[in-house]
Formats: sequence, C-alpha cells, structure tokens
Amino acid sequence: MRIAVIGTGHVGLVTGVALASLGHEVVGTDANPERVALLSGGTAPFREPGLDDLLHEGMQSGGLRFAASIAEAVEGAAVVMICVGRPPAGLGDTSLVAVESAVRDLARHAAQGVVVVVKSTVPPGTTARIEHVIRLERPDLDFAIVSSPEFLREGHAIEDTLEPDRLVAGSDSERGFAAIRELYAPLLVGGRRLIETDPRSAELSKLASNAFLALKISYANALARVAERSGADVTQVTRIVGADTRIGPAFLGAGLGYGGYCLPKDVVTLEQLAHRLGYEFGLLREATRVNDEALDSVARKVEEALWNLEGKRVALFGLAFKAGTDDVRGAPALGLARRLLSEGADVVGWDPMAGQAAKQEVPELQLAREAWEAAAGAHCVVICAEWPEIVELDLSKLRSLMAYPVVVDGRNFLDPRQVRDAGLTYVSVGRGQETESG
Ligand code: UDX
Repeated sequence: MRIAVIGTGHVGLVTGVALASLGHEVVGTDANPERVALLSGGTAPFREPGLDDLLHEGMQSGGLRFAASIAEAVEGAAVVMICVGRPPAGLGDTSLVAVESAVRDLARHAAQGVVVVVKSTVPPGTTARIEHVIRLERPDLDFAIVSSPEFLREGHAIEDTLEPDRLVAGSDSERGFAAIRELYAPLLVGGRRLIETDPRSAELSKLASNAFLALKISYANALARVAERSGADVTQVTRIVGADTRIGPAFLGAGLGYGGYCLPKDVVTLEQLAHRLGYEFGLLREATRVNDEALDSVARKVEEALWNLEGKRVALFGLAFKAGTDDVRGAPALGLARRLLSEGADVVGWDPMAGQAAKQEVPELQLAREAWEAAAGAHCVVICAEWPEIVELDLSKLRSLMAYPVVVDGRNFLDPRQVRDAGLTYVSVGRGQETESG
C-alpha cells in the first residue's frame, strides 16, 4: 500500500520504517524542515535500537522516502497516518493545534478514497473532530477515518511495532477496517488479532493503558513507603504480588517514579478529561501525587545521607527517563538534579546516551563523559536509570574514587550485598530493614 506518515517523532518514524520493512511504500513528512533534511540524508533524529538499520534498508530499497510537505507526502496515498506530537499545554492539558493544522493541510491534498488513520495519542472525540474538519475543509473528498492508537515503548519501539501485544482499529466505516486489515496483514499472524471497535473506545484505550501502567508503578511506590516504615522489603513484596497471574510482575518497580513523554502526560490528560465530563477520577490524581512523593523520597535519602548539601558533590548515574533511550523528557533524574542544585549541591551527571540532552535541559548540571569522571570526589552517587553499564562498574574502584562512600539506588537496581561488600553504604527504596551504615 502507498502510505503517507505525517509526523516523524517516535511513533511516526518507527511506524514508517516498520511499514516499509513489511513491504509498503511509505513517504514520511514533518513540520520541522531540518528533521526532514536529516532523515532524507539517512540519519534518524533520535536513538532507538534497530531504527538506523531499518531506515537505511527502507531508503535503499526505495520503499521509504521523506517529503518536505504534507501535499507531497499524501499525493496518491491510499492511507494517511497522523502521527503528530501532542505537546503539553497549560496545566497538564495537551494541545491539539498541531494535529488540526496537519489535518487541514492533508484534507486539501489527499487523494479520493483515502483512509485517514489517527495514531497520535488523543482524547476520545478527536477522531470525530478530525472527520468534521476534513469535511469542512474539503467537502468533495471521499474518505474513511480510523483511530489506531500506538502502544510502543521507547527503547523497544521497533520490536513493539513489529510484534505488538495488540493492534487496535476504531472506526464507523467498513472501508476503514478493510484498509487497516490490509495495512497490518503481515502482523496478523500467530494468533495475533486486530481488535476492532468504535473510534472513541480506541482513543480512550490508549490513555487508559498508560494510566493503568502509571497506577501500577504508583502502587509499588506507595507500598515502598509502607515497607520502609514496617521493616518489609518492597522488592520481595512485589515479587510475590506479581507472581499472581491476575496481577503480573511488570511495572511494579518502586523507585524514583515514572517519567517520560507519555505516562505523566496521559495520566493528567485522562484525569482532566474525566473532570470535564463531570467525573472526578481521584485515583489518577493520587497516582501523580504518589509519583511526586517517590522523587521526593529519594531526594530526602540523599539529604539524610549527606546532611547539608551545600558544597557536596552528588553524581547522578543515568539521566534519561529510563535506560535504553536518549530521551530526557520528564526524566526523574532531571527533577532530582534541579532539586539538589537548588539546595546548593554540585551535581554531576553521566549517561551512556542522554548526557547532551540533559545538559540542554539543566544547564547548571555538570556533565561527565564516563562514570568514573562523575564519581571522582563525589559525596554520593545516585542511580537514576537502569543502564546495564552501571551493573558492570567495578564497585571497589567506585569506592576508591568517591569522597564519601554513599550510593543511593533510586531504582533498586544493584545487588545490595555486592555494594556493601565493596565498602559502600547502600541506600535503596522501600527496604525497611536497611540500616544507614548497611
Ligand atoms: C509508555 C508505555 O509503556 C507505552 O505503551 C506507550 O506507547 C508510551 O508510553 P515509555 O514512555 O517508552 O512507554 O516508557 P515506559 O517503559 O512505559 O516507562 C515509563 C516510566 O516508568 C519510566 O520512567 C520508567 O523508568 C518507569 N517505570 C517503569 C518505573 O518506575 N517502574 C516500573 O516498574 C516500570
């Protein structure tokens, strides 16, 4: 199928290269001309395992290219996918201005019979609004519209797209469903099926999934507070709780809390949507509060270990919002860095991928090229993301470089015994039996 993808962020670009790898003919475009130029030269604007290879393969085979305008991208396309970002606007609400502007543009240039697929995460009712805008903009256009939310995780985006847990299509049009079935046909194998529903349920399902993941994490973090006070170990508790197949072990990791571009925003979007509709979704407000508390709790562990922060050097290991990505949007590490800086600490950060991006967000942050450089003279090391590189560090060397031997593990990532055996004081999250000296 000839497909146009509007927006080349994580969802759009990954969807585009993945569909090209399945044999579709894909043309991507973006409102940012520099991004289009970069992509046309074969360079991805962000890091994602497997992305560069699929990008090169697609471009070499001729199945994938990038266009400077929506007009050029949608010309002759049977399917147009809207993957435009939805930046935060105002008090946690999100702006759909970019989506509307893309829709008006595509309506003017789309081919007759086109199927418009909405992949951006949007509140229920947006697909209906998009349909209305297209009708106003181009009354003569024959088109169908489908909501098909995307559930990919950063750092696993290609595998999540090519081997998804579920594929969703929400539409009122049989032609829309037929196009989606054809589009995803290579993925509908091995029992994997397309869940067909109405557009509003499809739209809400995306917000509902992300908010539920956030609830699970906040549940684990709230348990961590109780474990700390009761002498239990939250990692043991969640191991047992997660062994129940009705609950499952994923997303029960207590620590610094959830960050990133999606979870924090989607929790607030769903809560505010419910409020506008006359329902107070207090459960979600509480998830956000517990998440803020999780960061606060780790900050207090650092303060507790170091007493006054003025003149102390704190090294943050892992600046991305999670390991495996160079994305620092909503990164808990940066929230922690700002707080420690405001209390007078010298904060130095190291991350295998996200250093430069972090420095741009928090210019006062000192950047180290490697872990040893960050640790040298530090009074405390805080683990903020689960990079495998951190586990490989020689802990005795770490101890010898640091001014004070204190490790605060904001992700419960390291083996407590190994850290203590290296002569370091180990402070983690939700482990009530921990003593200060270890
Ligand atoms: C998320 C959803 O998982 C994905 O389905 C959706 O399409 C986009 O949003 P992503 O933003 O890539 O994906 O991050 P995710 O892997 O969900 O992690 C979110 C945050 O939660 C990270 O900061 C991570 O460190 C944190 N997290 C995750 C925990 O604190 N504990 C856990 O147990 C799991």
